[in-house]
Amino acid sequence: MHFAQLGKTDLVVSRICFGCWQLSPSFWGKIPLEPWHAALKKALDLGVNFIDTADAYGDGYAESSLGEFLHKEGLRDRFIVATKFFWDFTVSPRVPNTTHDYILRACEDSLRRLKTDRIDLYQIHAWDPLTRPEEVAAAFGRLKKEGKVRWFGVSNQNLEQIRLYGKHFEVASLQPHYNLLFRDIEARELPYCLESRIGVIPYSPLYRGLLAGTYSRDQEFEDHRGKLELFTGEKFQRILDGLDEIGPIARELGLTVSQLAIRWVLTHPAITSAIVGIKTPEHIESIVPAAEGMLPRDVWHKVAGVLERAKGG
Ligand SMILES: NC(=O)c1ccc[n+]([C@@H]2O[C@H](COP(=O)([O-])OP(=O)(O)OC[C@H]3O[C@@H](n4cnc5c(N)ncnc54)[C@H](OP(=O)(O)O)[C@@H]3O)[C@@H](O)[C@H]2O)c1
Repeated sequence: MHFAQLGKTDLVVSRICFGCWQLSPSFWGKIPLEPWHAALKKALDLGVNFIDTADAYGDGYAESSLGEFLHKEGLRDRFIVATKFFWDFTVSPRVPNTTHDYILRACEDSLRRLKTDRIDLYQIHAWDPLTRPEEVAAAFGRLKKEGKVRWFGVSNQNLEQIRLYGKHFEVASLQPHYNLLFRDIEARELPYCLESRIGVIPYSPLYRGLLAGTYSRDQEFEDHRGKLELFTGEKFQRILDGLDEIGPIARELGLTVSQLAIRWVLTHPAITSAIVGIKTPEHIESIVPAAEGMLPRDVWHKVAGVLERAKGG
């Protein structure tokens, strides 16, 4: 496994991060826990030391499942654990909340569910237009002083929002959407983070599985993906055409298509670690080799071009 320092922090994270959103039944259906537990153990065996979750994944279910398992197996200290807050799901319908008192309460709830005394990286899940960054910073100051959180990060923020938060607290990392099909952040957010030494840990590097190259032409998705534009109809077929085209490029490099897609993300110099959504030990085992190298410059652009045409044209 290859490792990288997360921004300016003292966290040295594996370049593959174990993503826990899959334990969100309303998005992914109820996935069995036994293979998921086995996947966590396999991840550890393969050198993965970084886990990403959020309080909102399954309204606490992902954090509780993770906390139970790490506690039972005595593995908490073997991982750097990142989680997020933003959605107050104790009210219905859930609403964004990043106010001072809410953050303190959400953090206590996450600590309890995760069965831990500290969160290594605590991230704001998205932009809250109703709360001033000073207020967020005040809560963060208190959590840091009390030793409950080591570092703070942001997720789904644009350049202006990252800068604004950065005026009031140290932004350790950005967690953006980034993969071969969604590259908007290359223009502004990635250069800024690279220059400012803010760690970048993109999510959905396989675009929710689509870029893994494992789906058949007549595949139907019964989970949330069935409603996504790129997972149905002609667009889906075009993406699969693109994946067929990059198959030989992957094979020439001794990679699978999913490894090529992850290595493509990791080759960008701003990227610290790619967060992959894992359900089974096979998922993590087959992804890890992606982190063991970088793509040549010409291949990076060629692959990007193929998927850009497949998506857009
Ligand atoms: N900050 C945010 O707003 C945000 C948003 C989304 C996600 N995230 C984080 O990022 C993580 C990853 O994002 P994601 O789940 O959207 O997308 P992803 O990692 O791009 O895709 C995950 C899906 O890809 C398939 N897969 C995983 N490993 C594979 C392998 N080795 N070979 C073939 N297929 C494989 C699985 O689907 P199938 O088994 O169905 O094929 C899995 O559910 C999440 O778990 C979460 O921690 C954060």
